[in-house]
Amino acid sequence: MEFNPGLIQLLKDAQTIAALTGAGISKESGIPTFREVQTGLWARYDPQELATAQAFKRDPELVWEWYQWRRGLVSEAAPNPGHFALVNLAKQVGSFTLITQNVDGLHQAAGSQDVIELHGNITRTKCFDQHHPVENYGEIEGLPPRCPQCKSLLRPDVVWFGESLPAQALEDAFRAAEQAEVFISIGTSAVVEPAASLPRIAFQAGAVVVEVNPDETPLSPIAHHNLRGLSGTILPDLLQQAWP
Ligand code: OAD
Repeated sequence: MEFNPGLIQLLKDAQTIAALTGAGISKESGIPTFREVQTGLWARYDPQELATAQAFKRDPELVWEWYQWRRGLVSEAAPNPGHFALVNLAKQVGSFTLITQNVDGLHQAAGSQDVIELHGNITRTKCFDQHHPVENYGEIEGLPPRCPQCKSLLRPDVVWFGESLPAQALEDAFRAAEQAEVFISIGTSAVVEPAASLPRIAFQAGAVVVEVNPDETPLSPIAHHNLRGLSGTILPDLLQQAWP
């Protein structure tokens, strides 16, 4: 893809860039997104049945097993060129902040550092009552297994609907959005709050907003540049043209 020369120059000149990623960036790694009509997880499963504390209390085994299935997908997945392009972008910019809604850890697997994880990480486990982190639950009996410390049930360390986001991560993300000269929204439907507010905050603070997504989203009308296509293609191309 040929990019607007103004966008390429802007990236080269920017001292501060922030990027927000969503499920779309990991789709090319084989991890299903949430809201796409044919293939998204929420087309096949009801979030209220699987991704809430109430659902876990009602049927902990069902929820645990669903997350074990997703953990299996994640463990078999590898980062794709979109993830790697963001590692390279960090090397080119004075200050780069990567914020993700994804729980799959693929940015870190690609080599990104200091990733702000807004929705937790599916590879981590904690207990339901006290949030004790538990590293190895493989030997513990039960579905779900129980916390070795307080005996409450174990759950994935992800943010469920109705739960608060990790406070520090949220604060860091908002600060990055306010300070960014360029804010890039990648592979997210831009509808789940508070993450969806980040590009809008950046826009209001004067940032140039860039969207990378094959489809239009509610963010598209305010984005200064809409790059329509797959992040695994667009991001490496963008990097190549800005820093050949
Ligand atoms: P969605 O499933 O809502 O949106 C995925 C977006 O990725 C869509 O806009 C697609 O058009 C786009 N997309 C698909 N393939 C792509 C590709 N190869 N390159 C670039 N974009 C592509 O996922 P999110 O916006 O991440 O929350 O969803 C936000 C949150 O909703 C998730 O973090 C999760 C979910 O409920 C929690 O679990 C708390």
